[in-house]
Amino acid sequence: GQHGDLAGRRVIVTAGGTHEPIDPVRYVGNRSSGKMGYNLAIDARDRGAHVILISGPVALPAPYGVELHQVETAMQMRDVVHSFITNADVLVMSAAVADYRPQVAATQKIKKQTQHEAMGHQDGGALTLHLVQNPDILGELATTLDGDGDASRGSGGISNTPAKKRLIRVGFAAETEHLLEHAREKLRKKHLDLLVANDVTRLDSGFGTNTNKVLIFHADGAMEDLPVLPKTGVATAIWDRIVPLLG
Ligand code: PMT
Repeated sequence: GQHGDLAGRRVIVTAGGTHEPIDPVRYVGNRSSGKMGYNLAIDARDRGAHVILISGPVALPAPYGVELHQVETAMQMRDVVHSFITNADVLVMSAAVADYRPQVAATQKIKKQTQHEAMGHQDGGALTLHLVQNPDILGELATTLDGDGDASRGSGGISNTPAKKRLIRVGFAAETEHLLEHAREKLRKKHLDLLVANDVTRLDSGFGTNTNKVLIFHADGAMEDLPVLPKTGVATAIWDRIVPLLG
């Protein structure tokens, strides 16, 4: 609580997946349950932090003692992240943010073509969804906070608060192939302090599970291979590595 190693710190944790509307009743989404992010928020609270939890739609109860902001889309999540970034010490992006959204969300429910209507068409009633890219919430901070293309952090760009230390940024990676390569690339490109890569090939790790098997990549190139742990334990391991970076 008051005397924990995150006492006096303001931390932002994002959790869950985003829902990108197709029409009033349908969306493009992913399998994130929010468990990883909610456990990160709860552990930070227990260590004394003021926690801002920005969550996509999940089936989890609101954690006690945490400032919860519920969002639906990647664009909404980005707005809320931006509104709290100025005074934050840490941003942990465990949300599975949709990379793409339908270009237009239909205002009325999209009707299925009748058999008769479909017969008259070459594609037999197929429906094409046109997707456009969402902004990369974490990636664009590399530009706004650090200045573009400059790997030296905390100088040259717009500091989150001039008098304060820079924002510690932690990302996650969910990859189905070339895990190490992609994780190192994300760490570097998004100017992260830590990158947590989930093993999504295992049944006891990744989306929806109560346990997770992760590799933690540090900015200096070091990599740690953690065993399968409950997501509570993974959350603790992540904060244990963030605290020393807080100076
Ligand atoms: O919620 P659970 O069921 O417990 O599952 C946890 C989890 C597997 C979802 C979680 O541990 C995890 O890996 N979250 C990130 C998944 C993801 O979207 O990874 P990515 O490789 O697509 O994105 C890399 C990083 O950039 C992430 O920190 C992501 O939050 C961030 N990002 C991605 C896209 C985007 N448009 N904006 C972002 O900020």
